[in-house]
Amino acid sequence: METVVSGIRPTGNLHLGNYFGAVKNFLKMQEDYNCYFFIADYHSLTTHPTPADLHGNVRQVLVEYLAAGLDPEKATIYIQSDLPEVAELTLLLNMNAYVGELQRTTSFKEKVRSNPNNVNAGLLTYPVLMASDIIIHKAHKVPVGKDQEQNLEMTRKFATRFNHMYNHEYFTIPEPFNNGEALIKIPGLDGSGKMGKSDGNGIYLADSPKEIRKKVMKAVTDAGPTEQNAPLSEPIANLFTLMTAVSQPDTIDYFKEQYANCNIRYGDLKKQIAEDIVAFTNPIREKIEAIASDADYLRKVVNMGKEKAHESATKTIREVREIIGFKPF
Ligand code: TYM
Repeated sequence: METVVSGIRPTGNLHLGNYFGAVKNFLKMQEDYNCYFFIADYHSLTTHPTPADLHGNVRQVLVEYLAAGLDPEKATIYIQSDLPEVAELTLLLNMNAYVGELQRTTSFKEKVRSNPNNVNAGLLTYPVLMASDIIIHKAHKVPVGKDQEQNLEMTRKFATRFNHMYNHEYFTIPEPFNNGEALIKIPGLDGSGKMGKSDGNGIYLADSPKEIRKKVMKAVTDAGPTEQNAPLSEPIANLFTLMTAVSQPDTIDYFKEQYANCNIRYGDLKKQIAEDIVAFTNPIREKIEAIASDADYLRKVVNMGKEKAHESATKTIREVREIIGFKPF
């Protein structure tokens, strides 16, 4: 059976980008693949959370994973820092990752630009840690959104390089996976860019209906179409992309037609999107509330995941050490 690995940084609640870019595919894949879904708490240290925030955020993502439908009986759900073998593999892969190629990645350059006072070495080697997460379980497929495409390309590069260096087809070269479709990018509500945690432009699975309506009604639009079949501006194209994720096809067609005939009222479009998001998130939010108070269940899930993830990781580390040439005396 093929293996799947994917992770999410615990830097707040899950938003619709996380759900439609990743979690939605996790739900399908856990039925048919050997899945490892983890919470990337080592990765989140690049932004220096306080100890209390770190634990609270990990717990929240775990609760939301479960509320969204990840099943600990089907998939291995674990916390990245419960697997220190990942840190060892990162150290080993680092010897073979070049500073120049790491400096050239888009996400590193963006971080340097947006946060010049915190250009730490963890940010630079972020793709190496991500590669370790993936290849430690010899993943075949990695369900992620479009924003992680380059990181996955780096993973493929590091795995291939290791295999060449030691002349041993050891690591599987993983493929990005989005259910046979193109990788998706859920846009933010501010008219440009992706939905993200840091940008304050996200709708969260845990948001109340009132918050969702308020956020969607404030989304950026334009002055409206002035001629038939006008091309969509970026903010309007973004609203339609969001609609594609949450609304029925005939609803989307209706609003597209209204746009094409210049009859569209953006207020109505937003109301429809808001109601469809509320209908979609309502059951998840109810489950979030129920699972959040069940500390025993959460502990059980984490321990079970840790044990299963360890089995696979320790085997890989043992074999990698041997391939590299660490030998017992
Ligand atoms: P993170 O935590 O930023 O996002 C988690 C997942 O959500 C997807 N995603 C999106 N998809 C579509 N549209 C968006 N606006 C959007 N925002 C987020 C991401 O593609 C991702 O799948 N580096 C990773 C975490 C990670 C990881 C891994 C993932 C660490 N190790 C190993 C896969 C495999 C990250 O920061 O994702």
